[in-house]
Amino acid sequence: MKPIILVVGARPNFMKIAPLYDELNKRSKSLILLHTGQHYDEKMSKVFFEDLGMPKPDIYLGVGSGTHAVQTADVMVKFEQVCFDSNPELVLVVGDVNSTLACSLVSAKLCIPCVHLEAGLRSNDREMPEEINRLVTDVVSDLLLTPSADADVNLRGEGIPESKIKRVGNIMIDSLFNNLERAKKSNLLNELNIEKGTYALMTLHRPSNVDSQEPFLRIIEAIKLICETTYVIFPIHPRTKSNAKKFGLLQQLENIEKLVLLEPLGYLDFISLMSQSKFVLTDSGGLQEETTALGIPCLTLRENTERPITVVEGTNVVVGSDTKAIMHHVNSIHKEEFKSGKIPDLWDGKTAIRISDELENFVNKR
Ligand code: UD1
Repeated sequence: MKPIILVVGARPNFMKIAPLYDELNKRSKSLILLHTGQHYDEKMSKVFFEDLGMPKPDIYLGVGSGTHAVQTADVMVKFEQVCFDSNPELVLVVGDVNSTLACSLVSAKLCIPCVHLEAGLRSNDREMPEEINRLVTDVVSDLLLTPSADADVNLRGEGIPESKIKRVGNIMIDSLFNNLERAKKSNLLNELNIEKGTYALMTLHRPSNVDSQEPFLRIIEAIKLICETTYVIFPIHPRTKSNAKKFGLLQQLENIEKLVLLEPLGYLDFISLMSQSKFVLTDSGGLQEETTALGIPCLTLRENTERPITVVEGTNVVVGSDTKAIMHHVNSIHKEEFKSGKIPDLWDGKTAIRISDELENFVNKR
């Protein structure tokens, strides 16, 4: 049996592959779990394998950090050799990180069928590196597995044949629902001595927010105002920390009384904090979805989102980095005037089953 290569590279990929790995494994598929090494710190990578109960990767490319070209090219060169050696049945990539783009391009050029999971999402903002990754990955992939109807519409609009598009639902929500019970064992909130339902959880790492000083400062001003009354727990991404240091802002952050700065957290600690928070402030894609699935208010600190369903149906609002706009929504949460949402169709924890069925159909038809 020729193997299926499942590619992971960066933190947001791990929780998307874990439930799929399990389901395909149950169906006795031959699998190669390949980690490009785009994220390599223990706290950005290894802890997720442990928390999600994933086996160690079969292949680790060890590419590490670099400019977009260096990182993408390094994955491509190393991944091509893996494809020569293992002659896979298909390659499955997830999300929109540089590793996703690199491996899909290699597969396409070698005429190895490529499946993109979480296809069709568009922010329509080409200044976002992920948008380029999404567009290119979708155009070279052979099967496009989408999380929601808006993604199908985007793909059709780009001229992708209907036969390539299959809506399977949101795989991240499988991991979230599978692990919420286990996450209750996390003792972190107790250790921080903060009460359930009273605090905000924040993440921030987009280049548009943290690579230049102005938006970063506007967000820090909002944090200061929020922290006048409310704890904000902020596990800080390595990119954000190093830029805060560079701009001389780390000290300012450390001086905010109710701001709790933490190192990046593992999956279980993080979903435990998220599920017990009053609201979330973020520029992450995945968190917009997880908060919608949990019914927790989410303020997205970006100008746009590739996940509009979380705004239309869920609990998300896109607010940007303007201090006043952020505070307007924070106040409406405090006054209990914030909207409530519903869980979108097919975000039901059964996406891995539907994906595995689609993969079987796809292979059988070839
Ligand atoms: C990447 C993804 C982004 C995703 C994010 C989640 C791309 C283009 N971006 O952004 O879509 O939302 O992951 O975290 O693929 N670093 C470490 N340790 C690590 C990894 C990175 O310290 O394990 C530092 C390095 O200084 C590195 C910087 O973080 O230069 C940025 O890492 P990189 O992988 O380029 O992008 P992210 O900002 O993490």
